[in-house]
Amino acid sequence: MKRIAVLTSGGDAPGMNAAIRATVRSGLGHGLEVVGIEHGYAGLLRGDLRPLGRPDVVNIIHRGGTVLGTGRSAEFPTPAGLQQAVNVLDTHAIDGLVLIGGDGTFRGASALAKAGGPPAVGIPGTIDNDVYGTNRSLGFDTAVNTALEAIDRVRDTATSHEMLHFVEVMGRHSGWLAVAAGLAGGAEAVLCPEVPNHNDTVVARTAASIAGGKRSVIIVVAEGYEGGAHGAAADIGPRLSLDYRITSLGHIQRGGSPSAIDRMAGSELGCAAVDALVAGASHLMVGIQGEAVVETPFEDTWSKRHQVPTELLALLEQLA
Ligand code: F6P
Repeated sequence: MKRIAVLTSGGDAPGMNAAIRATVRSGLGHGLEVVGIEHGYAGLLRGDLRPLGRPDVVNIIHRGGTVLGTGRSAEFPTPAGLQQAVNVLDTHAIDGLVLIGGDGTFRGASALAKAGGPPAVGIPGTIDNDVYGTNRSLGFDTAVNTALEAIDRVRDTATSHEMLHFVEVMGRHSGWLAVAAGLAGGAEAVLCPEVPNHNDTVVARTAASIAGGKRSVIIVVAEGYEGGAHGAAADIGPRLSLDYRITSLGHIQRGGSPSAIDRMAGSELGCAAVDALVAGASHLMVGIQGEAVVETPFEDTWSKRHQVPTELLALLEQLA
């Protein structure tokens, strides 16, 4: 193995830069050349490759987003797209790939390997935290803290005005962000896809709290829950006596300087991915479970789900 390439794909996530930095430094440490592929799989198809040396990854560990750029490509997973990707990788003599992203990224990596691409190792990076095979994906911890800061701010005004606030967080089909931010933010209720048809329960409980003297309420809603915050507010808001507002946090959750946890995980997983490639591994993702780095076959990362534990959902109900 002489030359490896690294790319980021899907939604950007804080901590991706730490993983790029670690991949480059570890690769150079192994005596490899390292190449960056810009703008994810779309950039791979276009041949947007550039050499990465130590100077290219200086002062990036604290930056949000990804210095390589990212994107989602509809063309890449087609037979023609995959063939084009293999051709580009052959032309640039790439012997190994490090792919940083979510389950869609690994689905693409799997297809690429089957189409004749070089050995590939993945690193989980998505604020959704829904990738099977790791306790946490890069970006999740930062996004939770960003959402939490927003919830704390909303609580100040909710308390001052004695109002009901619906705060929508991202997460696509997963409730991880909503559950974590809601739990840490002391939300009166969390609505997430893992607990469908929950509105009536929340209305009954919140009405009882208001009757008991509660004068401000925050309901955190996952974007993947039954119409998101707007859907929940349209149904729940008119059934409660407090005036209500809706705040959607949106892409604010994707940006920002990564937390220490995301920087550490990116550093650890970048090195682990290169070590795995050098050891001859392929077709797997390196993730973190407990304190250990573990390897998971690509297929499992997208055919299985990293579920929010039922214990955490029960805890939410207990503390609501
Ligand atoms: O997967 C990360 C994520 O931020 C999801 O939480 C969200 O649903 C989606 O990406 C938004 O994607 P886009 O930026 O393409 O609208």
